[in-house]
Amino acid sequence: MATVTETQSLEEIAKALVAPGKGILAADESDGTIKKRFDSIGVESTEENRRSYRELLFTTEGAEEFISGVILFDETIRQSSADGTPFAELLASRGVIPGIKVDKGAKPLAGAEGETVTEGLDGLRERLAEYYELGARFTKWRAVISIGEGGLPSDYCIWTNAHALARFAALSQEAGLVPIVEPEVLMDGGHSIETSYRVTDRMLQALYTELFDQRVIREGSLLKTNMVVSGYDASEQADVDTVADMTIRCLENTCPAAVPGVVFLSGGMSDEDATARLNAMNQRGPHPWELSFSYGRALQAPALKAWGADTSKVEDAQKAFYRRAKFNGAARSGSYAPEWETAEVA
Ligand code: 13P
Repeated sequence: MATVTETQSLEEIAKALVAPGKGILAADESDGTIKKRFDSIGVESTEENRRSYRELLFTTEGAEEFISGVILFDETIRQSSADGTPFAELLASRGVIPGIKVDKGAKPLAGAEGETVTEGLDGLRERLAEYYELGARFTKWRAVISIGEGGLPSDYCIWTNAHALARFAALSQEAGLVPIVEPEVLMDGGHSIETSYRVTDRMLQALYTELFDQRVIREGSLLKTNMVVSGYDASEQADVDTVADMTIRCLENTCPAAVPGVVFLSGGMSDEDATARLNAMNQRGPHPWELSFSYGRALQAPALKAWGADTSKVEDAQKAFYRRAKFNGAARSGSYAPEWETAEVA
């Protein structure tokens, strides 16, 4: 079967990733991160467990109605389903666009205690060419920005990460791959929602300055960012309407209208919060860009728990994954209702 992505331009792929009612599944946990997730359910992180867990997600019947693309990890894009079909081919045959995380993780930033810069630019041009051959049509690079004591993040950290994100994005577009630029301002800490707003605003201003300077085509890219929220340890927690209003205001001030879509990360928010907040933002639409999701934990958590590496539980896990995909798909048009969480909605 011809794949949907064979002849599409960057702009068409970017638009397809944020098609109405759909969003992205982030299944690109690095070895360290998937081990943490498996530890939480008491499952050993072997290559076969990782493969069969990802197969369970990718073969969930009907999920493609709500999932436009999947971000894979290097190991995963080289793996196949039990019947020998490479995962990228399996996804494409279902109309789901395969993507790939290409950064090599956040490493300590020299001379900046407590801050990181994301590495992975060396040899990236060659790696991108290989990923294209393996079937990927979009890429992701994640920078990590912490809010901390003494005015952190520093401008040094923000601009160094913005520069690397833009170098990644330019190389991706050169290779025919849509870059998802992800500067994640962590939600950990006792900071207020106003601080989250200010830091996200600084980060996105720097990012779009660098993307502009490095000639990245905004129409052929997507932004993956955090929502503007109160820090997890803050005594006062902003409600869903405040999160929606402040996140939209921050994006209106920073993200060019030419960018087809913003896909949020879930960052440790509860499944329900991640869905309800996206829903509230879309109820306030239309916006200059599609507002969608690229959730890891908020799409996978109930499925992971239901599975527990027990083959007899695959169907339960798929049901749990389908349910979250469906709810987030509804949040794309503001038509999700929190009451669904307690109802028997399959
Ligand atoms: P979470 O939704 O679990 O934050 O993961 C999204 C992601 O891809 C982070 O890079």
